[in-house]
Amino acid sequence: MGFDEFKELKPIAAALFSVIVPEFWDIDHYYRQGNIIVNATSLNSRLIAGHMIRNSKTSFGWLAIVIHWLIALTVVGQFVLGLYMVSLNYYHPNYQILPYYHKSIGILFAMLLLFRIFWSLINKRPGSVPGVRVWEHWASVIVQWAMNLLLVVVVCMGYLISTATGDSISVFDWFEVPATITSIDHQEDWAGEMHYWFALSVMILAGLHGLAALKHHFLDKDQTLNRMIGGV
Ligand code: HEM
Repeated sequence: MGFDEFKELKPIAAALFSVIVPEFWDIDHYYRQGNIIVNATSLNSRLIAGHMIRNSKTSFGWLAIVIHWLIALTVVGQFVLGLYMVSLNYYHPNYQILPYYHKSIGILFAMLLLFRIFWSLINKRPGSVPGVRVWEHWASVIVQWAMNLLLVVVVCMGYLISTATGDSISVFDWFEVPATITSIDHQEDWAGEMHYWFALSVMILAGLHGLAALKHHFLDKDQTLNRMIGGV
């Protein structure tokens, strides 16, 4: 089968190929070269209403956007839920069930976070939008990676608290995550302290990060926020 026929007949294979095979990830590059991935690009674009799954040099792909907002929502929700549930006394009707939700969501969140870190590593980050200062660019890179790393610590500490007594974590009764490390002195206490302080640090950084995005949008009037909501 010739090159042109493959493009016509196997667009889905070409689209999948562009996601799976690293050498073909730089889709713009291959688009310009007239490589076969040119077809995958146009198919991806049509399938997902004009937005590609992967980041390009100038915009975030839809997967990075969806994961970003899912993580942002979950982080804030889990923080509020965590503070509320520890304020309840033993006789409150939600005393047992809220920690179960917090832990279940936490494990699913950890899986999503690891996937997001993997996805960020294999996807080139789009360059900053025109008008952004160099220091702002580097500050945003540092803050974004700091949030990722702090979140990894937060979920690890949450795991160590919940499994300190050897109990596994049931994730919505779908599957169990077994206990592993249980022998550290006062594990529940120090992991609990770290869980709280690192979560608080994430919230502070996320607040600054969100304010910076709003400043770009309303004061600088650039495309930074628009491209994280898929508008660019
Ligand atoms: C807990 C909440 C949040 C976390 C953990 C978080 C984390 C991140 C991370 C890791 C990135 C890098 C891109 C990626 O890997 O997907 C990013 C980018 C971005 N976030 Fe957030 N974010 C949060 C909340 C927000 C909020 C509330 C806003 C807006 C008000 C926002 C606006 C943006 C924008 C505009 C970018 C792209 C920045 C650029 O182009 O460099 N984020 N965020």
